[in-house]
Amino acid sequence: MPTSLKDTTTLHNGVEMPWFGLGVFKVKEGSEVIESVKSAIKNGYKSIDTAAIYQNEEGVGQGIREAGVPREELFITSKVWNSDQGYESTLKAYETSLKKLGLDYLDLYLIHWPGKTKYKETWKALEKLYKDGRVRAIGVSNFKVHHLEDLLKDAEIKPMVNQVEYHPHLSQRELLAFCQKEGIQLEAWSPLKQGQLLNDPVITEVAAKYGKSAAQVILRWDLQNKVVTIPKSIKEQRIIENADIFDFELSLEDMEKIDGLNKDERVGSDPDDMSYGFSE
Ligand SMILES: NC(=O)c1ccc[n+]([C@@H]2O[C@H](COP(=O)([O-])OP(=O)(O)OC[C@H]3O[C@@H](n4cnc5c(N)ncnc54)[C@H](OP(=O)(O)O)[C@@H]3O)[C@@H](O)[C@H]2O)c1
Repeated sequence: MPTSLKDTTTLHNGVEMPWFGLGVFKVKEGSEVIESVKSAIKNGYKSIDTAAIYQNEEGVGQGIREAGVPREELFITSKVWNSDQGYESTLKAYETSLKKLGLDYLDLYLIHWPGKTKYKETWKALEKLYKDGRVRAIGVSNFKVHHLEDLLKDAEIKPMVNQVEYHPHLSQRELLAFCQKEGIQLEAWSPLKQGQLLNDPVITEVAAKYGKSAAQVILRWDLQNKVVTIPKSIKEQRIIENADIFDFELSLEDMEKIDGLNKDERVGSDPDDMSYGFSE
């Protein structure tokens, strides 16, 4: 089990990825994102998750620079947006993201959503970036088992990560087992269900037992399930609180209680229905 924010999971290509990071979806470009990134890094976070579509890569880059931590100690993820899928357009989108971030490489670059027809072509571009040493790891996001099975038929390089919606109302057991079998690290987006799980009576009861907050219990549940987690907050106190999860362990019984909350319920789009931004 990870014991601090520095602890990492080893991806199948040997790259070390922190178990815990900061998400910046819906965090406004400019001072809001600059301050949240700085505050996270100042408080020991090593990993930041952004995406081209979040339109805050410039601020993420500025926050990283102002935090003053050496670049190589950080793990920075971005994602190619749906409208940029395709071989040449993905190569171009990667350069645009790097430029905005002011970085010369990313630690992880993901296909944001599968769509229906272009993800294999897009994956070839990610493989090219990886083989050329431009990015340390490549992966996908919002891929279901059927998307992964299809991609793996033609992929030269297996994705190192699959970032998907994952929380106690959507515990993705089949997908988690599949990814574990294939050596693909699962990563949780909206781990707090965007705040909707924080008043759940089962979670608040478990939280009270450990003297922890509901958010901390959920994020600890992620780690104990071997899922990387990237909660978002723009408030320094919550950024600190969310990461303070290394001093307790949920019992098997409490893990199972939380598992029991699953209802396959999403806060975001179902990947099979996500067509926004695609021209196909
Ligand atoms: N790949 C994808 O398609 C995809 C999709 C969605 C998200 N993501 C990534 O996953 C990250 C996390 O997901 P998310 O931002 O959707 O949702 P989330 O992390 O589940 O929840 C964020 C919400 O919870 C609140 N919050 C955070 N910590 C809290 C605490 N300790 N107590 C009470 N409230 C708290 C935040 O408010 P405040 O900010 O006001 O504290 C915000 O409203 C994103 O930022 C993004 O990087 C990826």
